[in-house]
Amino acid sequence: MEDLVRLSVNIESFKYPDGYQALSNLKLDIRKGEFVGLLGANGSGKTTFLKVIDGLLKNFQGAALLDGADITKLSPKEIYKKVGLVFQNPDDQLFAPTVFEDVAFGPINMGFDEKEVTRRVESALKDVEMDGYARKSIHNLSFGQKKRACIAGLLAMGHEILLLDEPTAGLDPMGEYKMMNLLMKLNRENGVTVVMATHSVDLVPLFLDRLYILSKGHVVRGGIPEDVFTAPEDMSNVKLRLPQIAELIYRLKHEDKLPFDKIPLTIGEARKEIIRLVR
Ligand SMILES: Nc1ncnc2c1ncn2[C@@H]1O[C@H](COP(=O)(O)OP(=O)(O)O)[C@@H](O)[C@H]1O
Ligand SMILES: [Mg+2]
Repeated sequence: MEDLVRLSVNIESFKYPDGYQALSNLKLDIRKGEFVGLLGANGSGKTTFLKVIDGLLKNFQGAALLDGADITKLSPKEIYKKVGLVFQNPDDQLFAPTVFEDVAFGPINMGFDEKEVTRRVESALKDVEMDGYARKSIHNLSFGQKKRACIAGLLAMGHEILLLDEPTAGLDPMGEYKMMNLLMKLNRENGVTVVMATHSVDLVPLFLDRLYILSKGHVVRGGIPEDVFTAPEDMSNVKLRLPQIAELIYRLKHEDKLPFDKIPLTIGEARKEIIRLVR
C-alpha cells in the first residue's frame, strides 16, 4: 500500500431533493492500493456515499476530490477513466444481449479498435474467472455470474478504483467467498484500489485492510478491523453486531470470566487463542 491519496472526501452535508439529510460530516481518505470496507446497516448512507465518489450526486456541501481534482467539476469521461461503480443489482447495470457485448461496451466507447476491444474483454473475463462465457446470453447467467460480468465490464475499461455496492449480497456462502477472493486478487495482484459497501460483519475481518462504520450518514469509527469491532453495545448502537465468533469469545471473557487476552474476529484467530488457553 502506498500513501498516495486518490479520493479525499469531506462532505459537510448532502440532502436528497425531498430534504432528507443522507450524509453529514463524513470525512475520509482512500489511498492508492487500499481495500476498504464501508460497513453499515441499511439506510446508513453507503450507497449515497458511493454515488458521491462516483460523481453521480453533486449537490452536496463540502469537498470530494479525485487525485486532487474536484469531482463535481470533472466530466463523466474523466471520472470513468479512473473510477467505476458496480451497482448492488446487476440487472440495473447489464443491458447488452451477450456477455461479450456488455463487457465490450465501455472499451468501444473509449474508442479502442476491434482488436484492442477483444483483448480487453478477454482479459477482463479471465480476471473474473468467466473466460468461455463471452458468447453466453446475459439472460442465462446466474446471479453471481452477472455480478462478475459487471466487474469485468469495468475492468475492461481499465479502472484503477473499483467501487462496489454490496458485492456479496444475494450470493450463496460459496459465492460470497469467491467474490471476496476475486476482489482481494484484483486488489493484491492487479493493484486495483477497492472500496466496497457491505453489512456482512462475518466476512469483512477475513479480507479487509481498513473499515469505516457508517451510521446515519457519517463515519462513527474507522481503522483496522480489530479497532473497529469493539464491544457488542457499540455495534448494536449502529444496528450491527460483532462477527459471531467474536460475540462468543466476548461472552466467554466477560460473562464466564475466561482469561482471553483479545477478542478474535475470525475462526482462525479464535482457534489459536483457545489452544493457547487450554495449554
Ligand atoms: N432518492 C432518495 N430520496 C430520498 N431519500 C433517499 C433517496 N435514496 C436514499 N434515501 C435515504 O437516504 C438514506 C441512506 O440511503 P442509502 O445511501 O441507500 O443507504 P444504504 O446504502 O446504507 O442502505 C436512507 O434513509 C434512504 O431512505
Ligand atoms: Mg445501499
